[in-house]
Amino acid sequence: MTITSSPAWAAIEAQRHSLQAVYLRELFAQNPERVRSLSLSFDGLHYDFSKQRLTAETVQSLSALASAAGVREAIERMFAGERINVSEDRSVLHVALRKTDGAFPAEPFDVMPEVLETRQRMAEFAEQVREGRCLGHHGMPIRSVVNIGIGGSDLGPKMANQALRSIAHPALSVHYVSNLDGAQLAPLLQTLDPRTTLFIVASKTFTTQETMLNANTARDWLRANLGEEVVLQNHFVAVSSRPERAVEFGVRADRVFPLWDWVGGRFSLWSAVGLALMIAIGPHAFGELLAGAERMDEHFRTAPFERNLPVMMALIGIWNTNFLGATTHAVLPYNESLKYFPPFLQQLEMESNGKSVGAGGESIDCSTSPIVWGGLGNNGQHAFFQLLHQGGRLVPCDFIVAVRSDYPLPGHQEALLANCFAQSAALAFGKNEDEVRAGMEKEKLAPEEIERLLPHRIFKGNQPSSTLLLTSLTPRTLGSLIALYEHKVFVQGVIWGINSFDQWGVELGKAMASRILPAIHDPALAADFDASTQSLLAFCREHL
Ligand code: F6P
Repeated sequence: MTITSSPAWAAIEAQRHSLQAVYLRELFAQNPERVRSLSLSFDGLHYDFSKQRLTAETVQSLSALASAAGVREAIERMFAGERINVSEDRSVLHVALRKTDGAFPAEPFDVMPEVLETRQRMAEFAEQVREGRCLGHHGMPIRSVVNIGIGGSDLGPKMANQALRSIAHPALSVHYVSNLDGAQLAPLLQTLDPRTTLFIVASKTFTTQETMLNANTARDWLRANLGEEVVLQNHFVAVSSRPERAVEFGVRADRVFPLWDWVGGRFSLWSAVGLALMIAIGPHAFGELLAGAERMDEHFRTAPFERNLPVMMALIGIWNTNFLGATTHAVLPYNESLKYFPPFLQQLEMESNGKSVGAGGESIDCSTSPIVWGGLGNNGQHAFFQLLHQGGRLVPCDFIVAVRSDYPLPGHQEALLANCFAQSAALAFGKNEDEVRAGMEKEKLAPEEIERLLPHRIFKGNQPSSTLLLTSLTPRTLGSLIALYEHKVFVQGVIWGINSFDQWGVELGKAMASRILPAIHDPALAADFDASTQSLLAFCREHL
């Protein structure tokens, strides 16, 4: 039996029918306890999902769905180190990366000794850089760090680095380069002093085209500016599960930090992929980030579903996607420091659950990951929020804001919070015809003017959203926030029957790019491609 034909699914369908025509205004009016019963708090995080189009009864039915789908057992299998990434026959142990001590027995051995040893090596190296003891060519201390990586080897540390920049080392600059377009690396190199720059090549496979091309260019730049090959070794560090490839590239063996096949790229921020971040914020703060995530892991593993933040967040997503028919999900952080959170989540959710084939190879008979998108809330209000308010589409939103500012300026934080809360309330409750009419009458508009403007000024409301408050943006709350979304993705994957830890869908394009590359200059090699590709190549050859 598939999950969509289960009695648990049918029970939620029945809820959908009864809730379809009900407005959030009514749901709030009917139950004065609504906000209390549809909010959860944990360790500096407060999650208010009362503005979702559901009731406490829906929550119960959704929790029953999670049980029917085997979410509890799946969580235990992950924490037991079972090989739940079935298509790649791997364990999924990013949760081991935030453990502070103890064992993590996973097949075929305990991974903790290696995890702790690597973390210790990272901390020693990070301190060397932070204290000016890591010397480049000419014996000058390293002052700039450039992380070269893409996808999971970029988005996580870059996002967290931006989120925690208020505590970053003031005399070090840390940069992230991912794009193949020289427009990212070339202008950056112009600002850097090769004698004091360190490149971290972060790539699990050490074959990723974008990363290797950028790393080669960085190496050429150092050679051109510093001379002999040997000095490069003072300027390169690598993070990879294929250390031999990094050494072959020219990185000193003692400057290669390991990564393991049981860490997925998009879950790897907690590993040595976070080295640039650790250099920026220091080993202690990095440890706090891990501690925040570890606390969320414990909560995820032990809390009953109805009080479990990641499980509830996942179930709300299932409700919106599979029962209300939403196809997208907007992530709207209000803190500037969280500006890279939406692209980070895009990879986390869409690379994990953007699949229509189940873990056992069967076709999935329901919608899976929505299109995740978003951006900074305040900026969005003056841009794309128009569509959220009056576009007529169902777009569930996550509003995220830290209550205390990491960069306080008089009056700013209060205004930020007011805007955030105003938007979710406006989206939920709207402004009906009577209210709009009354407002215009108060403005003393002429009756014909009122009739002309009326339809434009109505806000239907009923747009569902959740609001996630952080007391402040600290390494701890950030660690909990990231782990919250990681586990949300896992739970949704279990319910949809997906293996959330592989990403076969990215392979075809990579292989085709390798075939097309030589044809950019050689027309003879283009003959095998489709007519459109041939025409695009011809245009490029003419103008390149
Ligand atoms: O192409 C997708 C992907 O494999 C991601 O899953 C991964 O995070 C990224 O590329 C980078 O891979 P690597 O760390 O091996 O360079």
